[in-house]
Amino acid sequence: MTESYFEEFEAPNRLLLGAGPCTVHPRVLRAMTQPLIGHLDPKFFQVMDEVCEMLRQVFHTENYMTVPISSTGTGAMETACANILQGGDTAIVCRNGYFGIRLADIAERCGANTIMVDSPWGETADLNGLEDALKANPGTRMVGLVHAETSTGALSPLQDAIDLAHRHGALVVVDAVTSLGSHEVRVDDWDIDVCYSASQKCLGAPPGLAPISFGPRAMSIINERPSKVQSFYFNLKDLAEYWNQTRAYHHTSPITMTYAMRESLRMMMEEGIDARHERHARVAGALRAGLTAMGLELVAPPEHRLNPITVVKVPEGVDDGAARGRLLDEWNIEVSGGLGEFRGGVWRIGMMGEGARDRNVLAVLSALEVVLSDAGYEVAFGASVGAAQRSLAMRNGNGG
Ligand SMILES: Cc1ncc(COP(=O)(O)O)c(C=O)c1O
Repeated sequence: MTESYFEEFEAPNRLLLGAGPCTVHPRVLRAMTQPLIGHLDPKFFQVMDEVCEMLRQVFHTENYMTVPISSTGTGAMETACANILQGGDTAIVCRNGYFGIRLADIAERCGANTIMVDSPWGETADLNGLEDALKANPGTRMVGLVHAETSTGALSPLQDAIDLAHRHGALVVVDAVTSLGSHEVRVDDWDIDVCYSASQKCLGAPPGLAPISFGPRAMSIINERPSKVQSFYFNLKDLAEYWNQTRAYHHTSPITMTYAMRESLRMMMEEGIDARHERHARVAGALRAGLTAMGLELVAPPEHRLNPITVVKVPEGVDDGAARGRLLDEWNIEVSGGLGEFRGGVWRIGMMGEGARDRNVLAVLSALEVVLSDAGYEVAFGASVGAAQRSLAMRNGNGG
């Protein structure tokens, strides 16, 4: 048995360019070293209020029930479904990747009769299929949509699907785990009923909090439901008491994570939300240019590509695990592999939050050229880095 636990653990200084968590700014880590205070300390209430206020700005909403749930993104998925669904309700979930499958699974576990509208992985949500499902299932309570499918790198347009669902009287739940903080998400203007995200991606904090926002339609369903919410932990009415009303104890808040979230949101406010989206777009454009110049194939169609994560096919003859292992061991760079049906077949390169930097694009492309060349894939050294540099120069107005 190893006795390494007698020594202080020293984490390696990785460059986290996978599907999350992503590298966080030292300011966020510093905020986490602040002294602990209690979850019922008036000073902490101030921190909570500030976090909620900044989250409203990021979600572009005035929803009072906009709070960070004490969990990762999956807990927010559970919170959304457990509160608006009751046994016997119908839910329709559009599935075009791994996280659509998870959302449908959760809706089903909440007792809903769950209808799946599937489209091939890599494509966007199927609007025609959604319309057919809504017509075939009058009285549907919820439509679930994944804005940014992290498993495939596809960004689904939302507005038509939201309008369609509302015409049929359904609430719309949007998974914005990977899009919030990198692509526009406008809860009020787009009329989203429930929208959630996670701290560890484009919001720039460690994993552990999952912001969620509930609109008026969703709140009235929750306030009027006759049955108890099956989850104690994610019961929104009790969470509302603690976050927005009497401050009554519900569970012990993760204080340190809330400090981190406050600081990462503060950094987003300083940068400006639009400027942050533009930075993600610039960096993603350079990464795509570099990968394409290397002869690699991207999964999502050009018009529906996500900026924070680029999903690229592992070239024929290259061992997925061995290549990612070399990136990690020799270059200290983490890149994610595929999930579900894409396991072993794709790499997911994240440029999210603090990780979305020009220098990180050049670093990962340089390393990948060496690793792929060693694996027997033909590489023209410098070609991908050059293409990325040209893309960045064009964006910076230097004409390439
Ligand atoms: C689109 C999407 N939804 C939900 C989740 C689940 O979040 P978590 O792993 O933080 O629980 C993820 C995680 O990657 C995701 O990418």
